Amino acid sequence: MLTGYMAPEGLEHLIEKQLTNIVDKIGRLFIAEGPTQNILFVQNIWYDLKKIEFTSIGDAAKQLKTLGKLWSLYPVLSVRRASLIADKLSYFKSKLIPFPSSLPTSPLGAWTLKNENILYASAKTSSPFAQGEVYFQESKEPPSRAYLKLWEALTLLETRPSLNQVCLEIGACPGSWTWALQKMAKKVIAVDRAPIVDSISNLDGVVFLKKDAFSLLPEDYKDVDWVFSDVICYPEKLLEWVLKWLQVNPKLNFVCTLKFQGSCDYRIVEEFLKIPNSKIFHLFNNKHELTWALVH
Ligand SMILES: C[S@@+](CC[C@H](N)C(=O)[O-])C[C@H]1O[C@@H](n2cnc3c(N)ncnc32)[C@H](O)[C@@H]1O
Repeated sequence: MLTGYMAPEGLEHLIEKQLTNIVDKIGRLFIAEGPTQNILFVQNIWYDLKKIEFTSIGDAAKQLKTLGKLWSLYPVLSVRRASLIADKLSYFKSKLIPFPSSLPTSPLGAWTLKNENILYASAKTSSPFAQGEVYFQESKEPPSRAYLKLWEALTLLETRPSLNQVCLEIGACPGSWTWALQKMAKKVIAVDRAPIVDSISNLDGVVFLKKDAFSLLPEDYKDVDWVFSDVICYPEKLLEWVLKWLQVNPKLNFVCTLKFQGSCDYRIVEEFLKIPNSKIFHLFNNKHELTWALVH
């Protein structure tokens, strides 16, 4: 059995470090033998990958059509021939999506050419977006593009704060997550040691606290429904903090960025995943980061 693992751009080395039994590599797609492996920094997984020999463009398209309905091409090798095959298939049209948007529901296959007569294809992939790439209609209002990873996490989780809920956001400066959350929730308590931009701290429902996030006590924030963290800190420190907050309020929802530096120990991720019902993602809009989420 073969499985494909699409690495995020620039993070190929992290896949290479974790993945075993690699038998081929095309661009950022690593192909490995054996059952699907739990790989942290993967952008899209190509399940049950088939290596298919074909004799012509028509034959390639015919074989793909028998495997699945909707296809996205990963164009790396023999690109001209690949695009002629793609023209004969129903293909996924990547588009800029608004936030909020629901997830595409049709199963999406992925394929790529190995050479002029061999292709790799998988009728089922882990992401409903081609290559795991989620592109939003962006806004120029927020002070940075960091809100895109928050939008992506909430899109994949298929939920978000509602207009009667309270969010606590730590590590809020300069304020683009605050900007995004303010549009969803009743109140956003934004915390950072550095101030967020005035145009955002002045928005209705935003309360900015210039504090060390780790000095906050959960007993003082019992009305909070969601906790968001984009704090730059060791994941170990964040985990300790999260566990303290969950102890006081087990119903809290969390979306937290885990930031990693250099070559580090990723065993901490297993500790986060021990929190029941929690999930870990590498988002298209993440860098050398993972996003941990717990939604009730
Ligand atoms: C990547 S930035 C956050 C960007 C933010 N999510 C946005 O959308 O604009 C990380 C922030 O964490 C803050 N930070 C780091 N340690 C902190 C602490 N102990 N308490 C509060 N904020 C902290 C930094 O000041 C920095 O502004």
